[in-house]
Amino acid sequence: MDIEKVNSMDFGEFVDVFGNVVERCPLIAAAVRSQCPFSDLEDLEQHFFAFTDALPQSGQEGVLRCHPDLAGRELQRGELSAESQREQSAAGLTSLGAAERLWLAELNAQYRARFGFPFVPAARLSDRAAVPSERVRRLHCPPAQELSTTLGEVKKIGRRRLADLLGSHAAEP
Ligand code: GUN
Repeated sequence: MDIEKVNSMDFGEFVDVFGNVVERCPLIAAAVRSQCPFSDLEDLEQHFFAFTDALPQSGQEGVLRCHPDLAGRELQRGELSAESQREQSAAGLTSLGAAERLWLAELNAQYRARFGFPFVPAARLSDRAAVPSERVRRLHCPPAQELSTTLGEVKKIGRRRLADLLGSHAAEP
């Protein structure tokens, strides 16, 4: 999909297509659509990120809370978005044994209790072994730093999702 196609989309189509660039936050896509036309993928991306950056802390935390826990309840119930399902599946999180799932649930709960939002790692979670160790490391970070780190991860995830939608490799690290 090229940027001309994106610029030609009406509001409804734009929100349908880009509504999950930021997990379960179609409102962000709706706001970004009003900035149309975009010069290229990077410009489109910048509008998504500028929106999240401009939110007050409560709004940023709200955006993070829209993310499902890794290997959590939504996965068990088959309620993940297609994007989250793909990302969690790539990390092997959709095929965990019961013991591993319980251990991750405990880590998820500790992390949420400390920060008030779920652990959100990017990088397509490609290194399955690193997911728990990274979470344990980040549990000890100061809350303001963790909020900023996590918003950075949400941007990486969004960049990848946009690149998938546009069939672009520009977002590869
Ligand atoms: N990292 C990439 N996708 C996801 C997701 O759906 N949930 C969380 N918590 N982290 C992610």
